[in-house]
Amino acid sequence: MKRFSLLAVLAVVALAALAAGCGGGGKPTDNKDKGGEAALTRPEAKDPYKGKTNTKTSAEDVAEGKKIFDAQCALCHGEKGDGDSPAGKALTPPAANFTDAKLQEVMKDDYMFWRVREGGAALGYNGMTPFNADTLKDDQVWQVISYIRTLKK
Ligand code: HEC
Repeated sequence: MKRFSLLAVLAVVALAALAAGCGGGGKPTDNKDKGGEAALTRPEAKDPYKGKTNTKTSAEDVAEGKKIFDAQCALCHGEKGDGDSPAGKALTPPAANFTDAKLQEVMKDDYMFWRVREGGAALGYNGMTPFNADTLKDDQVWQVISYIRTLKK
């Protein structure tokens, strides 16, 4: 009996710790919409990214963008871009699901460009690696963004 109640206490303590941990979330970039009408939002892009517009939107650009995505992004964002990858799900917050139409709506082009260049650090996260100009030229960043736009469901 004594043993049982000790286990029960431990279980309660563990649950409480878990709940406290979750309660601390609520960051603006939580991947999932919180349900109801609670608006999913994304901040405005910071300078020097603010106001940038996508210049690479042709079918060829989308095709190039897919190659870049498969090579550089799919590891975390999933082969289909839906965030369904072991690496992406292990991160906090998890890798974005680009098939989500609401997310696509709130991610402006300049915001996406900023996020690719600065990675998670742009918003104080450490999951996503930054991609500087040595890895992806500006045109390539736009190409991968154009491809991501096609993933919207
Ligand atoms: C090492 C894992 C990893 C890689 C590689 C990665 N990402 Fe991410 N990405 C994440 C995670 C985790 C998030 C969600 C947390 C955040 O917003 O930083 C994210 C978020 C994003 C966002 C913002 C989504 C939102 O909800 O606002 C964009 C845009 C993005 N990634 C694009 C890309 C592109 C494009 C590539 C490839 C060039 C890429 N990512 C590669 C892990 C990764």
